[in-house]
Amino acid sequence: MSILRVVSGALEDGARRESVYGGDLLVFKKVPPMEEFCALTDALIREVFQTGDPVRAQSEFDRDEYLSRVETLQKRFRKDGAARELFLAALGHVGVELGRTFGDWLHLRVSPHGEEHAGRRTAKLGFHRDTWSSNVYAQTNWWAPIYPITAGRTIAFYGEYWDRPLENTSGGWDLEEIRAGRSGAPVVPGPTETVDTASELRPVIEPGDLLCFSGAHLHASVPNSTGVARFSVELRTVDAGDAAAGRGAPNVDGEAPRVAWDWFRHVDDGTLLPAAAGR
Ligand SMILES: [Fe+2]
Repeated sequence: MSILRVVSGALEDGARRESVYGGDLLVFKKVPPMEEFCALTDALIREVFQTGDPVRAQSEFDRDEYLSRVETLQKRFRKDGAARELFLAALGHVGVELGRTFGDWLHLRVSPHGEEHAGRRTAKLGFHRDTWSSNVYAQTNWWAPIYPITAGRTIAFYGEYWDRPLENTSGGWDLEEIRAGRSGAPVVPGPTETVDTASELRPVIEPGDLLCFSGAHLHASVPNSTGVARFSVELRTVDAGDAAAGRGAPNVDGEAPRVAWDWFRHVDDGTLLPAAAGR
């Protein structure tokens, strides 16, 4: 079962990683660089949508225009060096040893109200473990909202499946086939049996907070019918020492044929995770 653990200040990095690999959901409260990060991201969102009310901007645009602006926003955000620097500073602030940390890119997710503005870039994520595709059990996810969220527009966790297998399509999901652009290949693996949602937990954290959890947790986007869009950011990290030593969360049901070491690059110098470089 997962435990929501609220932390103010920093956690020693080894202890933090152990906690995450044990299934804890960590909430770091009021992380100073995150406040600046949210302000910077808010300014970018306002600029791209040309709006004074980002979370209700969907009422100002039809679906195609909205999705086109989401695309512009996500591309600009991904290239925004200042946003990345602030987010990494936030990780450092809560105790992450950045010198041994590898990560993917900072992704800005937009989850509008209802279905009218749904598209590839705003799609809800169904039940999944990130490890079904990455196969990296040291993978740790960092997640943060830009604007206030509620239980109706957040991310949901199913702690019961932390140590309980769930039948899924990971065994037939091959990253190399996705890269080769084989038509019909599913974008991500998913469950093939009904998910028991009794253990569902919907953390509601505030802008300025950081949620940290194992990529092995079963999680999903909450369908948003709150009338207000959710803007959130996420980054995946891997500790190089843990990856090399095989430390991480338990694998209870992942069967993907490859390990996606090469999704992760050193957060400062961009070099590949040694496990990938050494292949
Ligand atoms: Fe995920």
